[in-house]
Amino acid sequence: MKQSNIRNFSIIAHIDHGKSTLADRILELTETVEMREMKSQLLDSMDLERERGITIKLNAVQLKYTAKDGEDYIFHLIDTPGHVDFTYEVSRSLAACDGAVLVVDAAQGIEAQTLANVYLALDNDLEILPVINKIDLPSARPDEIMQEIEDVIGLDASYAPQISAKSGLHVVDVLEAIVKYIPAPTGDVNAPLKALVFDSVYDPYRGVLALISIKEGSIKVGDMIKFMATGAEYEVLEVGIRNPKEVKKQQLVTGEVGWISAAIKSVKDVRVGDTITIKNNPAAEPLAGYRIMNPTVYCGLYPIDNAKYNDMREALEKLQLNDAALQFEPETSQALGFGFRCGFLGLLHMDVIQERIEREYNIPLIATAPSVVYHAYLTDGSMVQVDNPSFLPDPQKIDHIEEPYVKASIMVPNDFVGPVMELCQKKRGNYKDMIYIDDTRMNLIYELPLSEIVFDFFDRLKSLSKGYASFDYELIGYQTSRLAKMDILLNGEIVDALSTIVHRDFAYNRGKSIVEKLKKLIPKHQFEIPIQAAIGGKIIARSNIKSLRKNVLAKCYGGDISRKKKLLEKQKEGKKRMKSVGSVEVPQEAFMSVLSMD
Ligand code: GTP
Repeated sequence: MKQSNIRNFSIIAHIDHGKSTLADRILELTETVEMREMKSQLLDSMDLERERGITIKLNAVQLKYTAKDGEDYIFHLIDTPGHVDFTYEVSRSLAACDGAVLVVDAAQGIEAQTLANVYLALDNDLEILPVINKIDLPSARPDEIMQEIEDVIGLDASYAPQISAKSGLHVVDVLEAIVKYIPAPTGDVNAPLKALVFDSVYDPYRGVLALISIKEGSIKVGDMIKFMATGAEYEVLEVGIRNPKEVKKQQLVTGEVGWISAAIKSVKDVRVGDTITIKNNPAAEPLAGYRIMNPTVYCGLYPIDNAKYNDMREALEKLQLNDAALQFEPETSQALGFGFRCGFLGLLHMDVIQERIEREYNIPLIATAPSVVYHAYLTDGSMVQVDNPSFLPDPQKIDHIEEPYVKASIMVPNDFVGPVMELCQKKRGNYKDMIYIDDTRMNLIYELPLSEIVFDFFDRLKSLSKGYASFDYELIGYQTSRLAKMDILLNGEIVDALSTIVHRDFAYNRGKSIVEKLKKLIPKHQFEIPIQAAIGGKIIARSNIKSLRKNVLAKCYGGDISRKKKLLEKQKEGKKRMKSVGSVEVPQEAFMSVLSMD
């Protein structure tokens, strides 16, 4: 295939605008997948992904298309994850392309992630091809949306195909537009190899497969390769493409997108964004944009059953083989026993990992409240990074504390601007800007502490805007805040897993609300349990859980044994998620309650 007949592209969209549906239609139209094999939304391969309807792992397929000009083309369709947690992965998968198909819902219009994705695509110098989807909907406003794309993004949308990915209407126009508007790869096939690693997949038999886009040169079986950032060296054992079935090849050349295997044992050697070159004929410099992904959110994960500790370590190790961004190290908590401090790219990433440990490895867990990474500057001039609030150094030794901030862009219909601004204010946001999108919607720009959005910001935003607001953010760095550690005492003892770092101005209210929450969440025991919130030894809020012997059978008069059994089972079920902290049984929800704000 001539390099000029290759097209490499991604589909980018706000969640639910129809990216996966369009990908399915394209696979059908190019007869890449036989109909009987066609499971809907084929690119999303993990079960969990399918259930949540989000794309987590990237994927790339090769398609063949005979265009109306009579020429045969090869398309590489590169899938991108659709969530803010995975921005870096999105940006690398875009870097593997020359163009991006931008899907915009004809009823919803431009949303926060539409814009975020467009900016990432522009950063990577991609040609952007707008496509207006869901024109079959009665509420579709394709012409208005076209105008919106021109006004807000500044793209010429006059040639944007107007399609229904669901029915397949006009999808062929998208393929023709890809041929016409997205440029062919430009690299030099005779130059030394530069292959961009944009994803990796772990295969239990062959080790890590690196998914690569060949920017310059070529790679073949038997080559000795070098990963330019990690320095790892391997001999290539297999190369190939997917269509979407795996097809082995002898070599991949400039413009092609595929995979290699080289008996690589750990994803740590295969960093997303790294450049592969040939050891004996290396490229002078790597491709731009490589960055190590650092977790932004940490939490403690503890097996409810301590005997499962080793199983849990194995589970985390296995998950890490697939997921270089997941970090963990052993941690002990006086309250929860032995567990792991785990680092994630964001909350969704955290949720997914937690769920996989429970579901795939069958290890019930207690998760502590998520925490960001604080920078504590000490009076001796040094700085410590704190990802677990209970390890914040002694307040006497701290000069000041900095916390990570994000720039948030929130698109919201005019009617909800007031409540959204109020929410941002409550979450310690600094107002930056307000941009009109059209007569009905605005884009609010705020700087917010990451710690305030890691918990329930998104849920609240959705509920107070009746689902209409959309949200995206990027980390912008650290700022000094007046922060302090707040401890929670149960029965007079500090529960380390309940310690949080709070802003001093909000400490009193937070303390009060956490104490009240815990009072509701912790079941009554046979003895009275005092609950206290304290900052540096000073009690700022307190309450008591009265004693009571709870007899679930009390309501069962007479001998309905099956009903009794059911009640006892239910009680057992409720206990499963409890952890004994000293002499107090604490349910899982209690560990999350420390982050809620009212
Ligand atoms: P994520 O994977 O969550 O990012 O979403 P997505 O952008 O891939 O959206 P997806 O393809 O899953 O589509 C979201 C919903 O919109 C699904 O219920 C689709 O059936 C529906 N949908 C997609 N295209 C069309 C269309 O052209 N018309 C109509 N009416 N519905 C569509």
